[in-house]
Amino acid sequence: SLVPTRELVEKAAAAGRAVAAFNVITLEHAEAITAGAEAADRSVILQISENAVRFHGGRVGPIARAAAEVGKTCDIDVALHLDHVTDIRLLHTAADAGFSSAMFDAGALPYAENLAATRAAVRWAHGAGLWLEGELGYVGGKPDAPASAHAAGVRTDPREAARYVADTGVDALAVAVGSSHAMTERSASLDHALIGRLRDAVRVPLVLHGSSGVGDDELRRAVRAGIVKVNIGTALNIAFTRAVRETLTARPDLTDPRRYVARGRETMAETVHSLLDVVSG
Ligand code: G3H
Ligand code: ZN
Repeated sequence: SLVPTRELVEKAAAAGRAVAAFNVITLEHAEAITAGAEAADRSVILQISENAVRFHGGRVGPIARAAAEVGKTCDIDVALHLDHVTDIRLLHTAADAGFSSAMFDAGALPYAENLAATRAAVRWAHGAGLWLEGELGYVGGKPDAPASAHAAGVRTDPREAARYVADTGVDALAVAVGSSHAMTERSASLDHALIGRLRDAVRVPLVLHGSSGVGDDELRRAVRAGIVKVNIGTALNIAFTRAVRETLTARPDLTDPRRYVARGRETMAETVHSLLDVVSG
């Protein structure tokens, strides 16, 4: 069934676990993620990024409704989150499109501009009943990301984070602690001591972005140190594409997409299952 993101994040925080948020690009992503979550018997967040909306021609409705419909008919709890919003007009459509939460991404901006833009986004989001995640410290690596005001490898400062959370009113905070977006190897090493200091400094749940580049043990330690929402995208696309490529290489005669997309979807579901055992176990 479909539940609000706030509920899944609060439950995870209370249990000392994390909730995983997986990026949905196509209908098959939503099907694979929920199948993997059902197999693992864990709740899950389906998140659709502004980039994915762009892929669908700028229309958020069809893919959001598809994901919501898949979530509604599941045995586990599923929440719908709008990810990496930079265009405030997209945020304004979020509640009507069925999302219970969004991430407003002003992480590339200098502190004062990030603060002002995020504060305005929070005010609007709360008026619309949305839970809002902000970012401080800039997690780089996103394709087509705007030029950042921050140096590569910048980290979130705990004292600045405390001030930022109090001044913006965000419900959760994405932090820069050593991960980077779109990594195809799980070689990132995280600053676990910094995660602990951030957890002690701010009173909202911490979010790890770019988690595809983080190995199982590093993820477990990050959750123990205080990460409550773990965002994963690239790892699923690697699994899907590898299976599709293998299938098509072995069977060059195939033309029906159901034959190879099904293999990709199954493999993606297996990846979801094993990642959920790591972060929500
Ligand atoms: O917001 C989405 C995530 O940060 C996903 O990052 O594709 O590197 O796993 P990733
Ligand atoms: Zn991200």
